[in-house]
Amino acid sequence: MKRVVIVGSGGRLGAALGREYSNQFDIVGFNHAQLDLGTAEQMRATLGGLEFEALINTAAQTNVDRCETHQEEAFAINGEAPGVLAEICARKEARFIHISTDYVFDGEKRAPYTEEDEARPISVYGASKRAGERRALEANERALIVRVSWVFGPDRPSFIDWALNQAREHEEVSAIADKWATPTYTLDLAGLLQPFIANGQA
Ligand SMILES: NC(=O)c1ccc[n+]([C@@H]2O[C@H](COP(=O)([O-])OP(=O)(O)OC[C@H]3O[C@@H](n4cnc5c(N)ncnc54)[C@H](OP(=O)(O)O)[C@@H]3O)[C@@H](O)[C@H]2O)c1
Repeated sequence: MKRVVIVGSGGRLGAALGREYSNQFDIVGFNHAQLDLGTAEQMRATLGGLEFEALINTAAQTNVDRCETHQEEAFAINGEAPGVLAEICARKEARFIHISTDYVFDGEKRAPYTEEDEARPISVYGASKRAGERRALEANERALIVRVSWVFGPDRPSFIDWALNQAREHEEVSAIADKWATPTYTLDLAGLLQPFIANGQA
């Protein structure tokens, strides 16, 4: 059975992946308390001696407002850490899957974004996540960067749950009307990523 490391296993997506994959892969999960992405030495010490075939990084500083006021922290966790994880994986020839975001785009386009579109982040969060994508690919050319948006699922409430609850409880709901995204269901993402781990699909 392939061993798969999930970094950020306490988060919305990390928890879902750990559970969904538990009967097909040997899952080793690290939550924030067990592995801090702010410390490169800790990442190298904890993961360097572990054998695994794939590592999925779902951990991030996801609080967009906090990123604006804590830029250094945002760039350390979202920007630098993915490069360290990618490098650790490259040494082991393990598949590195890194989760990124639609926030790498500026939102000016009036049609769905594709991989070919130029990333032009307009927030610290977006810029830090874009830096993480670059670092990961510089350190590991086989790294797989997966950009998702509005992640929702059973493991942690999200904007989607808020909207559904509001719609159930009120005749009218006040919400932002100038933002468009395609929500990503964590269990769908688990299914989509599975072949990349199981078959080592490029
Ligand atoms: N949520 C969205 O709508 C959304 C949209 C687009 C992209 N994404 C991306 O999707 C991925 C998964 O997001 P999610 O929705 O699962 O977010 P989440 O529930 O906030 O999970 C992120 C996890 O990262 C952990 N973390 C934060 N700082 C850390 C650090 N310094 N070291 C180690 N772990 C740390 C958090 O732990 P604590 O909670 O204990 O701090 C949390 O468990 C992230 O890469 C995010 O950028 C999310």
